[in-house]
Amino acid sequence: MNSDSPEDELQPQRIQELLSVLPSFALLAGLQLDVFTRLAAGPATAAGLAGLLGVEVLRLARLLYALVAIDFLEVRRTDGGIDLFANTPEADLFLVEGRADFVGHERNLWSRVWNAALQTADSVRSDSPRAMLDFAEIPREELRVFLEGLHRGAVSMGEELARRWLSSCAAVLDVGGGSGGMSVALTQSCPDLAATIVELPAVAPVTRELVEAEGAERVSVVAADLGEPAADSLPQDLVAGSFDAAVCKSFLQCLGPAEAERAVARITRLLRPGGELYVIGVGLLDDTRVTPAHATLFDLIFLNIYEGGRAYTEAEHRQWMAAAGLESVQRLELDDGSPFLRGRRPE
Ligand SMILES: C[S@@+](CC[C@H](N)C(=O)[O-])C[C@H]1O[C@@H](n2cnc3c(N)ncnc32)[C@H](O)[C@@H]1O
Repeated sequence: MNSDSPEDELQPQRIQELLSVLPSFALLAGLQLDVFTRLAAGPATAAGLAGLLGVEVLRLARLLYALVAIDFLEVRRTDGGIDLFANTPEADLFLVEGRADFVGHERNLWSRVWNAALQTADSVRSDSPRAMLDFAEIPREELRVFLEGLHRGAVSMGEELARRWLSSCAAVLDVGGGSGGMSVALTQSCPDLAATIVELPAVAPVTRELVEAEGAERVSVVAADLGEPAADSLPQDLVAGSFDAAVCKSFLQCLGPAEAERAVARITRLLRPGGELYVIGVGLLDDTRVTPAHATLFDLIFLNIYEGGRAYTEAEHRQWMAAAGLESVQRLELDDGSPFLRGRRPE
């Protein structure tokens, strides 16, 4: 027997690591309960912290010991035998809300996304999205959690687009603009730019509320379903040929392929000759379907939450863009290295 065969060297260590998800759940719960933020003021007993958080002590204490076990909290026993909990330096830097390096803004969105991901085997078995996210039906509070979870990413995308590509635009269409963060950031960064968000009728009122709360005057919100079947229709209130650029961020991935193709055609007609469509988001796969790994893995979420939506390949996107009449379609990269596509409406 050859003891040097590659099989002999294989160990299940990586599999075991991937299956050890409880630290992630403890961390998420600590963030959701604001444990680290409360402890930023100084060490506390479990009972003291329970009082601050408005929860019962016994279950909280068990979570606190778990957070000690994974090095986000430290525990010190007083001479009187009472345990005092404190943030570790890492937790104090990254897990305290309000600090510049806080990384937990999206905690409520992660909770929803992880819940969805846990349905993957059932969604595959039943060939249906077991954690369905139907934007037309979702309760308002849940919709707010979802959109607020996407907000920071949308804002930083608006800032990057303004800095790198859209500063000379006067009119930009933000397709499926969600929280409105991208449009707000674009108008704040570019004094001569007006942004129009197009959102589903069920979502548009929430988008409007969020945009108004930001006091953004050059952002308007139009209610329309861009995937609807009616041939050749354009949303009322939007004028063909009136936008210098349109941005679809994390939008086409919500739609089935036929809807996505119709949406790209409609959006293209809203562009002026020479206007550009930007297709951005985690739903853009290379044609191998295996890279970027982030997109391939995120497609697991889509298969649980969308009836027809999914990550699409670059070739699929290019086909819709070509069918819509866009030309010079290019693959470009964002600051973080993720790819996106840009095409131009012919002059
Ligand atoms: C994943 S969210 C992305 C939101 C935002 N672009 C962002 O990246 O933060 C997708 C958005 O597209 C909107 N949407 C989905 N289907 C749509 C349709 N057929 N027409 C217009 N908007 C749609 C949803 O309401 C939702 O706000």
